[in-house]
Amino acid sequence: MKLITVKDYDAMSEAAAEIIMRQIDSKPNSVIGFSTGSTPTGTYKQLTAFCAQGRVSFKNVVPFNLDEYVGLAPDDPNSYVYYMKENLFDHIDIDPANTHIPNGAAEDLEAECRRYDALLERYGSIDLQLVGIGQNGHIGFNEPSDTFSDKTQIAKLSENTRAVNAAHFRSADAMPQFAITMGVGDIMRAKRIILMVNGAHKAQILDKVMHGEITPQVPASILQRHDDVTVIATQDAFI
Ligand code: GLP
Repeated sequence: MKLITVKDYDAMSEAAAEIIMRQIDSKPNSVIGFSTGSTPTGTYKQLTAFCAQGRVSFKNVVPFNLDEYVGLAPDDPNSYVYYMKENLFDHIDIDPANTHIPNGAAEDLEAECRRYDALLERYGSIDLQLVGIGQNGHIGFNEPSDTFSDKTQIAKLSENTRAVNAAHFRSADAMPQFAITMGVGDIMRAKRIILMVNGAHKAQILDKVMHGEITPQVPASILQRHDDVTVIATQDAFI
């Protein structure tokens, strides 16, 4: 794993946005795996600024998001469709027809998982995948478990994840119990992976992810096996 240590959140966001911009520069129709949560919002702001300055165009970029909550309609303010529009897609020159996010409101969720995987396969592999980590080491919504998942699937959210993410919902009860997430295998098949980590509250888990045993109990630990991972972490994210 290549490590870039930065002084703070803004520097992390800028470093990640620069890498994404260079990726699009070298391949304008790049397939980019986007993530959500509080970690990448600064990166999306930076990419919006780069786009406004004419330094990058998303016209031919194909975004594939990692995950979506089950049961939330796309116009729900807590859905990741809403998040992506609000934080990035509505502010850049992207073609909405090129954007892909699992449909958490699909009637047949299993069929939706297969549809998403088939789409991913049609585009070949993801050129650059952005990921964050949950405090329990999850990537996407792949929670600690006995095996590493492979393809897109329905994941039961852990108590830890529900407690952490409930802060964004009007009440803990409104927080979904399930999500659709790309599998660990899908993430590992990306050509290049950028892991962004911000803050002291992620220090314990980052240490396990980078230096601990590779185990599905810490899903992101599998990134140690990928040959092109760049970790961009703030200096307080180390024990
Ligand atoms: C969320 C998302 C992940 C994200 C992680 C960390 O629940 N499913 O894709 O990387 O948890 O979130 P945050 O950046 O808010 O710490």
